[in-house]
Amino acid sequence: MGPRGRSALRGLLALGCMVGLVCAEVKDFISTAADFNTECKTCPHSVCTNQLYYSYDETFNVTCWTRGTRIMEDNIWLKSQAGCYVTQWDLYEYTGSWTSDLAYCGKASEDESITTEDATLQYKTECRICPDIDCDIMAYLPEDTDLSLTCWTDKGQIIIDDPYHFKTTNNCYVAEKGLYEKPDLTNLDNCGPIPFLEELWHWNENGTSDIDKRSPLPVPAEQGVQYLINVTVGEDYAPCRKCPQDNCKTEKKYVFDQEVWLQCLVENNGTWWSETTDFCYVKNSDFWQCPECDYYKNPLCEWFANPDDTEN
Ligand SMILES: *[C@@H]1O[C@H](CO)[C@@H](O)[C@H](O)[C@H]1NC(C)=O
Ligand SMILES: *[C@@H]1O[C@H](CO)[C@@H](O)[C@H](O)[C@H]1NC(C)=O
Ligand SMILES: *[C@@H]1O[C@H](CO)[C@@H](O)[C@H](O)[C@H]1NC(C)=O
Ligand SMILES: *[C@@H]1O[C@H](CO)[C@@H](O)[C@H](O)[C@H]1NC(C)=O
Repeated sequence: MGPRGRSALRGLLALGCMVGLVCAEVKDFISTAADFNTECKTCPHSVCTNQLYYSYDETFNVTCWTRGTRIMEDNIWLKSQAGCYVTQWDLYEYTGSWTSDLAYCGKASEDESITTEDATLQYKTECRICPDIDCDIMAYLPEDTDLSLTCWTDKGQIIIDDPYHFKTTNNCYVAEKGLYEKPDLTNLDNCGPIPFLEELWHWNENGTSDIDKRSPLPVPAEQGVQYLINVTVGEDYAPCRKCPQDNCKTEKKYVFDQEVWLQCLVENNGTWWSETTDFCYVKNSDFWQCPECDYYKNPLCEWFANPDDTEN
């Protein structure tokens, strides 16, 4: 519709209002509240960094609408009074129409501006919806998975000795400890403040954005402490074998009290083994700790083997 058409329509609407018909008037702002923790982003796309976040039930004003990542059934995002963008999906149900009741933020607001840097996983690594141990696991990524990182945070779970995590273009976070090399932080934006997020509220059924597409998990993710864990050898020495069986070749020997980092578990005929960061297998009974016990909730190695996940 050209400008003339639009002004004719406005005239009609004004006429409608005068004779008492329903008419939409563009408001300066609409007061709303977050239905669950929601990120307020520097641009209206899932991978944009966070400027701030709103917690469940927090009220704020939105001033205009724009288009961004499709979340569930639509791609409408709203600009908050703070100047950042939230998806309408995360807000309390609005009985009016965002797009008729607010002004459009303008074409430029739809742009996606992110930083990226390539990286490759050295170890099997969980990719989480937020960078804490309680956050839901969105994908189990095997070693040598190529990733595109978009931002960094140093406010994540400390893995062995390292709190840095990176958000990938697949919209989940990996620990720096799982990467071959520490990324150059100067190439990447800081992710901003990250709220606790849950897959239950932040999954994206039928999301059309490639960035939000993920392969289904090979098994449902269980909550728990799942990451590289640090254990110590409780025997005179612990053979680390090429495969998780007593008759497999010994590739390495760890000594008494040596600190060993474990990636995941294998159960073989009732005996538990762990794959170490040297990519060989030690019998769990050789450690002081019990890596298969509930406290650690270490993942099974086979969960990472799904080749679909390597496209992350
Ligand atoms: C929304 O804007 C109005 C008008 O400026 C203001 O009175 C109100 O306090 C704002 N609401 C919030 C939650 O900031
Ligand atoms: C997703 O797609 C399925 C099948 O087309 C449909 O039944 C479902 O309502 C869609 N979900 C949303 C949130 O649009
Ligand atoms: C690994 O665990 C041992 C024993 O719990 C501890 O002494 C050591 O400091 C840990 N190392 C790191 C790097 O966290
Ligand atoms: C599994 O363990 C049982 C009992 O220890 C043993 O008889 C059997 O041979 C084992 N099977 C394999 C494949 O190692």
